[in-house]
Formats: sequence, structure tokens, C-alpha cells
Amino acid sequence: MKIAVGSDHAGVELKKAVIAWLESNGHESNDMGPYTEESVDYPDYARKVAIAVADGLYDQGVLLCGTGIGVSISANKVKGIRAALCCNPEFATLARQHNNANIICLSARFSDKEAIEKSLYNWFATDFEGGRHERRVNKIEPCC
Ligand code: RB5
Repeated sequence: MKIAVGSDHAGVELKKAVIAWLESNGHESNDMGPYTEESVDYPDYARKVAIAVADGLYDQGVLLCGTGIGVSISANKVKGIRAALCCNPEFATLARQHNNANIICLSARFSDKEAIEKSLYNWFATDFEGGRHERRVNKIEPCC
């Protein structure tokens, strides 16, 4: 799959591990920044990745920040994006199975490399279940 990857400064280091995992598991990734640990604003990078995924340039996205919260809130402002903050590998499975999530958001400060790799494994190994979940996902719409 083609994967857009982004972070803020807090996620730069673990993003390297994410990209290495993606590449060694047969995915093509594009690091949309930042590339140093100089302080940046997470909405700028979350928006960049979310728009690229929503526009169909990438199949899915991966975002990291300190908690994963800021990037998930930001990415979910883009129409067509279902960004899921995955605090553990089980969340990653369920976000794909039930929510057809298209961006996985990860915490660089509260997850370790092993948990992140397991989450990525589950995410890419899991398909959307459809059925009753499709009805629910179709109801996720901006309302005001
Ligand atoms: C940056 O210090 C921090 O606020 C950011 O990485 C993230 O955790 C925001 O949600």
C-alpha cells in the first residue's frame, strides 16, 4: 500500500521506526515531515497527511505526536478521514474492523516501539468488517 506518514517534533524519532517497519513489510511510504526535532505545530502535518489520503494520493496514513491526540483531532477535520488514536494493538484491529479508519494515530511519548509495531501489524492485517459497521460509518458526517 501507499502510506503517507507525518508527525510533529515529538514523533520524529519513532517515525523512523514506523517508516522502517512499513518498508520492510512491503509498503511504500512518504514521510511528509517534519524531518528534525525542532518544535513545530502538529495540525500543519496532520492536515498535510489527511488531505493527501482524502485526495486518494495514498491508501492510508500514519500520524504521530506526543500523545497522538493532537494529530487525530486535526486529521479528523478533513472530510473523508477517519483517524483513530490507537493506544494499543487491539485498538488498531478494532479501528480497522469496526470504523474503517484510514489514518492510524500513535503516541510517541506513551507507546514504545514494540507496541507501535504490533499496532501497525494489526492495522494492516485487518479489513473492514462492513455490515452493521458500514451503516454506522456512513452516519459519520459533519453536522454543523
Ligand atoms: C507537543 O509538545 C505536544 O503537545 C504534541 O506532541 C501532542 O501531544 C499534542 O497532542
